[in-house]
Amino acid sequence: MTNYRPMAELPEASGYKAGDYLVLVGELFGRGYANGLVEEARRIGMNVIGTTMGRRGGDGELRPLNAYELAEAEALLGAQIVNVPLEAGFDMETIDGQASIADQLKSVRSDTWDQIRFSDASIESASRAGTLRFRKNLSQVVSELEKIIPAGSNVLFSYVMAGGFPRSRIFMLLLNRVFKGTGDKYLSSRLLWESGIGRLCEASFNEVSADTFRYLLEETSSFRDRIAGSGGRVRYTAYGYHGSSVLVGGEYRWQSYIPYMPGWAKMRLEDIAEEAFNKGIMASVYNCPEIQTNSSALFLGVEISLYPLLDAIRREAGEQTATKVEACCQAMLKPGETVAHLLERADSYLSSPILGQIIDFTTWPQHNSREQAELMLASSSELMGMHTDQKQLICAELSRIVFLSTGRLMLHASWKPAAPVIWLNHDIIGRLLADSRGEGIV
Ligand SMILES: NC(=O)c1ccc[n+]([C@@H]2O[C@H](COP(=O)([O-])OP(=O)(O)OC[C@H]3O[C@@H](n4cnc5c(N)ncnc54)[C@H](O)[C@@H]3O)[C@@H](O)[C@H]2O)c1
Repeated sequence: MTNYRPMAELPEASGYKAGDYLVLVGELFGRGYANGLVEEARRIGMNVIGTTMGRRGGDGELRPLNAYELAEAEALLGAQIVNVPLEAGFDMETIDGQASIADQLKSVRSDTWDQIRFSDASIESASRAGTLRFRKNLSQVVSELEKIIPAGSNVLFSYVMAGGFPRSRIFMLLLNRVFKGTGDKYLSSRLLWESGIGRLCEASFNEVSADTFRYLLEETSSFRDRIAGSGGRVRYTAYGYHGSSVLVGGEYRWQSYIPYMPGWAKMRLEDIAEEAFNKGIMASVYNCPEIQTNSSALFLGVEISLYPLLDAIRREAGEQTATKVEACCQAMLKPGETVAHLLERADSYLSSPILGQIIDFTTWPQHNSREQAELMLASSSELMGMHTDQKQLICAELSRIVFLSTGRLMLHASWKPAAPVIWLNHDIIGRLLADSRGEGIV
């Protein structure tokens, strides 16, 4: 069990200099957490190198980006992309001419989903094939990096990847019931997790959201030695999630989104960082707060704990910064609605005894209950309903503040990392905004 270790002090400015490198392991599609690291790297003059998941052709084969896709992805990132497909996972692997797991899932019906079982052997052989492909491609990426990055540079690898939901219609249907279902549509996350599909899901999350970090550390081992031998430093950061501390009832309190099914894989990721750190490899997982991104859109209600960031900003960053952010948020609310009411509503969910009975750090991650799911979804929808335009949400603005702040904190902390697993909570984000190191974020 990882010790809960929040970042308590703002990190000193790192020694990365103009011309050093940030390498993103995970493709950027929109505004996600990694944008914060990219913006900070750029601000201090570092070069950015991106990677891609690749694309699946009509025949299901994984391929690099074509010229058009590459130009588009490089324009979006504003940097060069090493064009070798780094999709992780094994749901599309075909072994000895047999149907892939994704194909097998096509025939599963919504009334019999709980009867399907995949043998351990079939998951293992698909998983082995997926790992081999990923590692082979990753080593090709590293060969390309060897050509691009000169000796003596400092290099920060940012592991962004998280995923592993098997691609199938039935699975999306079940997830929608777990994450968005109320009444008859509600589905217990425990029931899904303990089913055959759930076991498959666990193996897939472990591979995509954790083990690929180990492969990254291993495949870059000689690259690391070469850089270290030439006077440079190689560092690794990974984005984690293991709940976060936010202001509830006027006090900072650790809480979590429920049901965060990838949580077990996220703890495996922490273990991988810890093992590497103990061997002297400077790899750290930064457990970050809940924000709205492409990936978190599925977890409806995850955004509720983002609203109290406004309280944390007021407490840590002071009146002037808080007034500026609150004015921007107030402008997104319907006439008659106020930021104060919004914060009260979010607090009443976060301090609810229903949540208090379930949430526990030592036995995290917790499964949902019907009562909790219904309370969370009703609160989420009420809070969303306070906005004038569902496309202009307070959470988008608060997410921007969080990803920019965590990007700065992670980049600088990575230079001399204090521990393999660190929580970045609302308090340290508020304090960054109060400091000259947080200038320009608000
Ligand atoms: N959004 C949140 O609330 C939140 C909170 C804490 C931590 N995080 C973590 O931050 C990281 C970035 O997530 P984000 O929320 O910014 O969303 P995002 O969608 O921007 O990032 C997800 C990343 O995973 C990659 N990915 C997904 N499936 C993959 C696969 N099969 N193979 C290879 N790459 C794959 C995507 O290309 C992308 O780079 C993730 O590790 C996520 O768990 C997110």
